[in-house]
Amino acid sequence: MSDQADMLRKIVSMKAGNQKPELKPKDEKITKKARVITITSGKGGVGKTNITINLALTLSKMGLKVVILDADFGLANIDVLFGIIPKYTLLDLIHEEKTIFEVLTDGPDNIKFLSGGSGVEELIRLDRKKLRKFVNSIELLDKLFDVILIDTGAGLSQNVMNFIMAADEVLLVTTPEPTSITDAYALVKMVSRRDRKKPINIIVNKAENSKEAMEIANKLCMVSDKFLSLKLIKIGYILFDENVTKSVKMQKPFVIYNPKCQASKNITEIAEKLFVDKSTEESLGARGFVSRLLSFFGV
Ligand SMILES: Nc1ncnc2c1ncn2[C@@H]1O[C@H](COP(=O)(O)OP(=O)(O)O)[C@@H](O)[C@H]1O
Ligand SMILES: [Mg+2]
Repeated sequence: MSDQADMLRKIVSMKAGNQKPELKPKDEKITKKARVITITSGKGGVGKTNITINLALTLSKMGLKVVILDADFGLANIDVLFGIIPKYTLLDLIHEEKTIFEVLTDGPDNIKFLSGGSGVEELIRLDRKKLRKFVNSIELLDKLFDVILIDTGAGLSQNVMNFIMAADEVLLVTTPEPTSITDAYALVKMVSRRDRKKPINIIVNKAENSKEAMEIANKLCMVSDKFLSLKLIKIGYILFDENVTKSVKMQKPFVIYNPKCQASKNITEIAEKLFVDKSTEESLGARGFVSRLLSFFGV
């Protein structure tokens, strides 16, 4: 483990732009933290997985190091959309059979992803020693990555709520369908009961035009502010685009399938809004995220 950590420090200091890799004392506090963003929705089938993957690729193009955690345990499908079968899952890490380096799968354009496998519930069964080891290995993600995107299942279950509450910030996806909007609102309501300050960014996906998208985002913001005292952030929208459906059939992310299509333009706007002028100072990082998550699960 310590050999690995030393090697990692070397890699990290090189990546930071230093010519000579600097080795820091072992007990030095790590300050760099990844920004942890959970992508969720009230209703299923609204485009979470597509948004997660294409946002990851766009951020990677912007020079950020990105890892995706597939936490939709029922319907894990990041791998399906990539057309890549991961060799290992989170379970292999939890049971200490594999290291964090081994369980990360290579995606396109330098991004990595980690399949959740059959669930975080496994963590609850671990003893303290194993848990500490697990948290320590997760901490390495802070050093290796700038952004951790977590693709969850549709909201309103306790499991997904825990992922939302543990993350630094949330991307809440809705479509113009009334049921999707009301389910998104129900989710905001649940969050507001636990934390009115949680940064929730609204994305309207599959909109017919920008006017429709903006009207929906405005309405959601207004009711959340008025009735729940929670201020949503309007981060952008993605128009309905046949390139998305076609790219899914080809098992290719749409930003690769057609980088100039409407959906690709829209996801770039969202990525820029999310990362320009925003510092990561307030982020808890991977370790903070996992510690919070475990406390929610009562570990
Ligand atoms: N902007 C869009 N335009 C057209 N189709 C879309 C768009 N976003 C998503 N889709 C389609 O919606 C379906 C569900 O998307 P997916 O990302 O799997 O949703 P979720 O992860 O929320 O269940 C996919 O078949 C995808 O092709
Ligand atoms: Mg999905």
